[in-house]
Amino acid sequence: MSSVKKCVVPAAGLGTRFLPATKAVPKEMLPIVDIPTIQYIVEEAVAAGVENVILIQGRYKAAIEDHFDISYELERTLKERGKNKEFEALHRIANLASLTAIRQKEPLGLGHAVRCAEQAIGNEPFAVALGDDLIDAQVPGIKQLVDCYDRHKKGVVALMRVPESQTHLYGIAAGPKIGEREIRIDHVVEKPKKDAPSNLAVIGRYVLPSKIFLMLKSIKPGVGGEIQLTDGLAELARVDGLIGYEFEGVRHDAGDRLGYLEANIAYALKRPELHDGLIDYMKKTLAAEKK
Ligand code: G1P
Repeated sequence: MSSVKKCVVPAAGLGTRFLPATKAVPKEMLPIVDIPTIQYIVEEAVAAGVENVILIQGRYKAAIEDHFDISYELERTLKERGKNKEFEALHRIANLASLTAIRQKEPLGLGHAVRCAEQAIGNEPFAVALGDDLIDAQVPGIKQLVDCYDRHKKGVVALMRVPESQTHLYGIAAGPKIGEREIRIDHVVEKPKKDAPSNLAVIGRYVLPSKIFLMLKSIKPGVGGEIQLTDGLAELARVDGLIGYEFEGVRHDAGDRLGYLEANIAYALKRPELHDGLIDYMKKTLAAEKK
């Protein structure tokens, strides 16, 4: 039995990097091949034993709730047309997990978004998964962290090595190694402009004890004037201890246009029905580029 039953998914960003696509469609609904990015996140959470997904939403995000709801008209039409496989696939999404939607009234930062889940979480450890980070792994990313949490009974954040030139884009963590893939974090800082303490970047998967809410309530706005989750984590590391876990798998940054395109190609290549056609197209394109 997993100790982590709830997962907070912040989905309140404006998606400005994907305008105009995100003018009327939440960025979490943009597809990787034919599945909205948020569904990959929810599936990953469910595969880790999560039963309740707590969505922190901004305005105009009803489409996300609709996606995880039953669509009577669509389901009936598919059934009437004998498209049973499609019907099952659609119906399954509505039964994936129970969904709680919470409105973040002002965009005050990731730490603030997580704080909005306090009442829904109560007094138990919980996962946080950021929709921009897709983790393609044999053992789902959240599951790797939950297993680590169960070993140590301490908060855990996912880490990945990045080139030094990119440390200013991430939360960066450092500390002594305590096991294979594990460090005890004694230092974590949000998007350091210089003197990054390491090249271990925090990637958007966390398992946290509920005491993080105390920290998130007491910290001051940090980088960008926002309440930063990383600042809460630094305080958690100091008071309670925090583990950094270098996860196994490939991470795609679907919040970046190039990363989004790469994710589409990587996931499409895993589809037998798309693989050969896509390879052919890429070969032709590369050959034409070389000319
Ligand atoms: C957020 C976090 C940052 C983390 C990153 C991972 O930043 O604040 O600590 O490294 O996600 O993707 P964002 O990319 O939302 O600016």
